[in-house]
Amino acid sequence: MARIIDGNRIREQIKGELKPRVSRLAARKRVPGLAVVLVGNHAASEVYVRNKVKTCQELGMCSEQITPPDSISTEELLLIVDELNAREDVDGILVQLPLPKQVDTKRILLAISPEKDVDGFHPYNVGCLVAALPAPRACTPAGILQLLKRYQIPIAGKRAVVVGRSDIVGKPVALLLLHEHATVTICHSKTADLAGVCREADILVAAMGRPAMVTADFIKPGATVIDVGTNSLETRQDVARIFRNSAERLAAFDKRGRVLVGDVDPIDVVEKSAAYTPVPGGVGPLTIAMLMANTVESAERRLGVC
Ligand code: GUN
Repeated sequence: MARIIDGNRIREQIKGELKPRVSRLAARKRVPGLAVVLVGNHAASEVYVRNKVKTCQELGMCSEQITPPDSISTEELLLIVDELNAREDVDGILVQLPLPKQVDTKRILLAISPEKDVDGFHPYNVGCLVAALPAPRACTPAGILQLLKRYQIPIAGKRAVVVGRSDIVGKPVALLLLHEHATVTICHSKTADLAGVCREADILVAAMGRPAMVTADFIKPGATVIDVGTNSLETRQDVARIFRNSAERLAAFDKRGRVLVGDVDPIDVVEKSAAYTPVPGGVGPLTIAMLMANTVESAERRLGVC
């Protein structure tokens, strides 16, 4: 039977490790502070941001939410970022993506001070990742590495296949696995024989945003499968097909009008892998835990205690 990698348990473990560090900073009157900028009202982003603010509270950290309107210009958003860069009490700045079309996302990410860039998206920090220098790492990729390490899943010498080449997950997780001495392949929508390449993986990371696309024929028996997808199924027909008419999932759909599924077929992964991250409850909880870790580390670095 495949082992379920429990992201909620690891998130709580990491939060438990962060608490004394937050207390130590608080004792020196330097409670870590995170500023989250959420432009407009993007429903999914609102949920993420609410969870980020709640987790800060649980850890005794300061958090602040800035919610400019959807119509904001690049210049106006740059002013907000500049103000946050200059503030002593702000250790971490996170501008929730995606931004509205009229905003130049690259300019915004470039404007965030690299030392406060708790998302690890600034090109300076991306360069540090490539060069394996210490710097904030993107939260979801860093969380995936925590899951593998804390479940003692060997990485060195293993074949790792990453499906998806985004700046947020695919590219950084591939580099982190490479630094841990995996042999890494990055696949994408134009990869020839995608299933065949995936079948070589001891560690398969699915991060392409396509509901249940990774089926049994993509999975080598005994592989570890990391599912980064969070797709919403919005028709009863899709829920019935993907969850093989599961009465429980169909009831959940009837109640809420949608059901979450990852990028990996949930039935096939249970049957073929040795370990996998469920959706929800796998990778997701780690993203926020690592954001908290990056913010605490930034506060420690700025105070000169690490
Ligand atoms: N949107 C989806 N994931 C993320 C993330 O990790 N950071 C930011 N800033 N925006 C996101």
